[in-house]
Amino acid sequence: LGALRRAVEDRLGRAGVDTPGLDARLLVQHALGLEREALVTRAANVLTAGKVALVDALAARRAAREPVSRIVGRRGFWSLDLALDPATLDPRPDTETVVEAVLKTVPDRNAALAIIDLGTGTGCILLALLDELPNATGLGIDLAPGAVATATDNAARHGLGERARFAPGDWNADDWDEELPAGRFDLVVSNPPYIPTGDIATLAPEVRRHDPFAALDGGADGLKAYRVLAPRIARLLRPGGVAALEVGAGQAAAVAGLLAAAGLTPDGVFCDLGGIERCVRARAP
Ligand SMILES: C[S@@+](CC[C@H](N)C(=O)[O-])C[C@H]1O[C@@H](n2cnc3c(N)ncnc32)[C@H](O)[C@@H]1O
Repeated sequence: LGALRRAVEDRLGRAGVDTPGLDARLLVQHALGLEREALVTRAANVLTAGKVALVDALAARRAAREPVSRIVGRRGFWSLDLALDPATLDPRPDTETVVEAVLKTVPDRNAALAIIDLGTGTGCILLALLDELPNATGLGIDLAPGAVATATDNAARHGLGERARFAPGDWNADDWDEELPAGRFDLVVSNPPYIPTGDIATLAPEVRRHDPFAALDGGADGLKAYRVLAPRIARLLRPGGVAALEVGAGQAAAVAGLLAAAGLTPDGVFCDLGGIERCVRARAP
């Protein structure tokens, strides 16, 4: 077992994986269903050929730069363990900045708030908020039917299915405004696609080959979705309601400007753990 783990680590290192030791451990544990300590206490165990083949198959996928989270089909976000599928973005720790920015503005966590999450993916932002706000209800919208299905399952698995609803929708569609009630939401959250199209080819293979293009592509300058969303968000918010949007590095000022032009008042920019401006918050008059 110990030798197999070291061999996987070497293989991943040669393939250019950033964290070969950690990833080798996680994949061996996942393939063999072992706790972390077992890798130490049973390092001298001899494995069957079948078990070695299981580990090899996962190591080959990681060496081809599929992320560990996609291989194991799960990702931790906030306090939740979420399922992923090919239609969903792999949730990033940076996105927890949006959850924090919203919670900082909620005076009463027991209030019956109505939340909408635009481009919900796995449902990560909405579900983290519902977990923190026990009387809130939420609607998550996504273009991708696979994301809607995965987010629905994630809600059910965390006991949030009664308060979360997910539906397909396209904010570029002409009938978008007819589908959703105006002035009803206390909180609008979104992590829209914001990578400039031309930059996508330069991203790490884990991202460009495995995150859905529709979850990444922000148009020529990365701001295409914000231009469409800003007036739509202003219409959805009730007076005094709050919007919190994730932004890419260097986009905060432009996004705050778009929200202001739509009639909202920007009231804060929040940094991720790397010190990058990651979330713009704004309030409806
Ligand atoms: C950056 S991902 C964010 C996913 C999730 N909220 C998260 O933070 O991990 C953007 C999401 O927006 C969805 N999306 C892209 N264009 C859309 C559109 N026109 N209408 C609705 N959803 C869209 C994508 O399918 C994707 O799930």
